[in-house]
Amino acid sequence: MAAASLGLAGRHIVLGLSGGIACYKAADFTRELVKAGATVQVVMTEAAEEFITPVTLQALSNRRVYTSQWDAREPNNMAHINLTREADAIVIAPASADLIAKLVQGRADDLLSLMCLARPIERCPLLVAPAMNREMWAHPATKRNLAQLRADGTAILGPGSGDQACGEIGDGRMLEPAELLADMVACFQPKLLAGRRVLITAGPTFEPIDPVRGITNHSSGKMGFAIARAAADAGAAVTLVAGPVHLPTPRGVARIDVMTARQMFDATLSAVAAHDVFVATAAVADWRPARFNDHKIKKQAGEKGPPSFELAENPDILATVAALPKPPYCVGFAAESHDLLAHAREKRVRKGIPLIVANLGPATFGQDDNALTLVDANGERELPRADKLTLARQLVAEIARRVGVGQ
Ligand code: CTP
Repeated sequence: MAAASLGLAGRHIVLGLSGGIACYKAADFTRELVKAGATVQVVMTEAAEEFITPVTLQALSNRRVYTSQWDAREPNNMAHINLTREADAIVIAPASADLIAKLVQGRADDLLSLMCLARPIERCPLLVAPAMNREMWAHPATKRNLAQLRADGTAILGPGSGDQACGEIGDGRMLEPAELLADMVACFQPKLLAGRRVLITAGPTFEPIDPVRGITNHSSGKMGFAIARAAADAGAAVTLVAGPVHLPTPRGVARIDVMTARQMFDATLSAVAAHDVFVATAAVADWRPARFNDHKIKKQAGEKGPPSFELAENPDILATVAALPKPPYCVGFAAESHDLLAHAREKRVRKGIPLIVANLGPATFGQDDNALTLVDANGERELPRADKLTLARQLVAEIARRVGVGQ
């Protein structure tokens, strides 16, 4: 993933570690932040030092680590002030149950809690990634504390669920570094689609001929998944109807997996009523075998030539949604091999949609970057070649402008 599209380049992040086994993940998280272009200032509690050494985090962040409010290296001896005035955000990962309780009470008896209290609350957001045993997580005191922390404007990252270091299984484990990074990235994106619901189709469809064969295409789903992520990062509630692809679901996105065009049609039509925007990126197979053979079609000895198939046309999902009595704002994609703009203009009118995004299909399928042309009733706008997440963020901003939010 290109660092530029993550939006963390040049950000100064104070990463706080409190005591917990999950401190081992903080090393990797530091690397992820640095790779994304952020500068990372690590602050550790005494308990955190029992789990991982400042040496490791200093080497990974390339900055000396702070562990005490009495650190005499600061000329004014006010590490808690100096560190927070230059920070774009404080993220605490891991945040122990004890540290969370301290934040709730506004206690300040070590550098990390002191710093959280002393930060300029309006311009330095606090993000907290809880990490604890499932019983601690489920305890009414922790629940009470979390509710208060949220009410105070703190973002809570996770926690995840699964195997815990103690051998138990349940909620409370800290998110993985990549998940933490995705949530941090989302925090810095403008909430252009806050309160909006976006439905997206992505990937190819697969039209079975018999139990082992079918008709499909080269769509990787990457562009649709990038748009799902960009829309979710922009504050939308996102539903993603995905054909057969092996891509991870963007965080916070509700995914419905389908195989055939007709399944994609059914899933989309049942979900669409609740959505404000529909983005059809899927490369839906235009035709399917008219008849499905229950058994694998065998080569017949002596028979002349290969078998022939009758094809039936699949329903057009986008055109059907656009023709609903109260359609969402519809965005289509036109993947063409030639005469890009002429086809895109014609397709926009034929499908009855306000906006279509043109791109060269064979050149983009499976790639990490692309170049797009937006075509609407007023003309065209080029989005020059960039990685798909960057383009997706630009497209989301264009959609937000057209549906009249986030201005
Ligand atoms: N689309 C759809 N359902 C279909 C076919 C296409 O929802 N059965 C959507 C695609 O997701 C895309 C747009 O329609 O947003 C254009 O798809 P494309 O395959 O380029 O257009 P077609 O209508 O299939 O036209 P043609 O095959 O002539 O290029």
